[in-house]
Amino acid sequence: MGKNIAFVVSSVKDYDVTIYDINPVDVEGGIRLSTKQLVEKGIVSEEELRERLSRICLVQDMDSERVKNADLVIEAVFENMELKQQTFAKLEERCRPDCIFCTNSSVMSPSEISKNLKHRDRFVGTHFWNPGHLIPLVEVVKTDATKDEVAQTVMDFMAGIGKKPALCNKDVPGFIANRLQHALWREAISIVENGIADAATVDMAIKNSFGLRLPQLAPLENSDMVGTDLTFNIHDYVLNYIEDSHKPSPLLTKMKEEGKMGFKSGEGFFKWDDEKIAKCNADLNSYLIKMLYNK
Ligand SMILES: NC(=O)c1ccc[n+]([C@@H]2O[C@H](COP(=O)([O-])OP(=O)(O)OC[C@H]3O[C@@H](n4cnc5c(N)ncnc54)[C@H](O)[C@@H]3O)[C@@H](O)[C@H]2O)c1
Repeated sequence: MGKNIAFVVSSVKDYDVTIYDINPVDVEGGIRLSTKQLVEKGIVSEEELRERLSRICLVQDMDSERVKNADLVIEAVFENMELKQQTFAKLEERCRPDCIFCTNSSVMSPSEISKNLKHRDRFVGTHFWNPGHLIPLVEVVKTDATKDEVAQTVMDFMAGIGKKPALCNKDVPGFIANRLQHALWREAISIVENGIADAATVDMAIKNSFGLRLPQLAPLENSDMVGTDLTFNIHDYVLNYIEDSHKPSPLLTKMKEEGKMGFKSGEGFFKWDDEKIAKCNADLNSYLIKMLYNK
């Protein structure tokens, strides 16, 4: 995520981007790999890519002047609360007092990550979505201490680098989009578990119905279109029957116990081999590029 975020930030010519990592990560190799299709399809020229890479610099020493002079930091270290808290504690000792701190954690609370900092008012969540160089949404998550002007500056910054920022006013688990996404996944898994339809049918049904129109017509617009009175009547009836469990489903638990972890193990809801995995990843990138750039 860090490399992809750096690539996105480099879209603004005035920005010098620094990646701080304890490991000697291959920044150029990583960015070249994830942007391969953008270059092949002529969305980013080789010349532009080279120019952007020239403004992205890797440092492995947090005492670097580049860290000390940063205007804004986006943290994307491993998903570990203690590591994140320690990273920001070290940054706070080094960065300017007006430097804005952001965490890219997809699940961990920005309030908890920032709880020991002296200046919690300059801290926000900035949740990029994978693949970070393509998916437009960034959730900008306020904590109870985030200053409004800091949140607004980050919203403007994200819009400036070509993202679609969404302000999340409360630091709640799942923020906005993962709450929505996992409400759907819970029901999808429940339908399989209860023998209503198999996994392939569930995914096919989504892709060929509301999934197809979602980028154009999202739930709340859709509710207005059909009438909120009709939405009321549907909910009054159907909410009695759909999944409302507050725990991972027994089916998912069984799959975990059996080591059926999807791509990682070769089997999840479906069977996977290297060829199918490569195709699934490539097809997703091609689809996103077509949707976003019409190429
Ligand atoms: N992968 C995703 O789909 C995704 C999506 C949204 C958000 N995120 C969030 O982004 C963050 C990173 O996820 P990722 O998938 O890119 O992980 P990753 O394991 O690919 O990368 C983590 C990087 O952090 C570096 N690192 C580890 N400890 C460090 C330290 N002490 N100081 C400096 N650098 C250190 C590692 O060398 C590595 O390069 C997580 O908080 C995750 O929740 C990930």
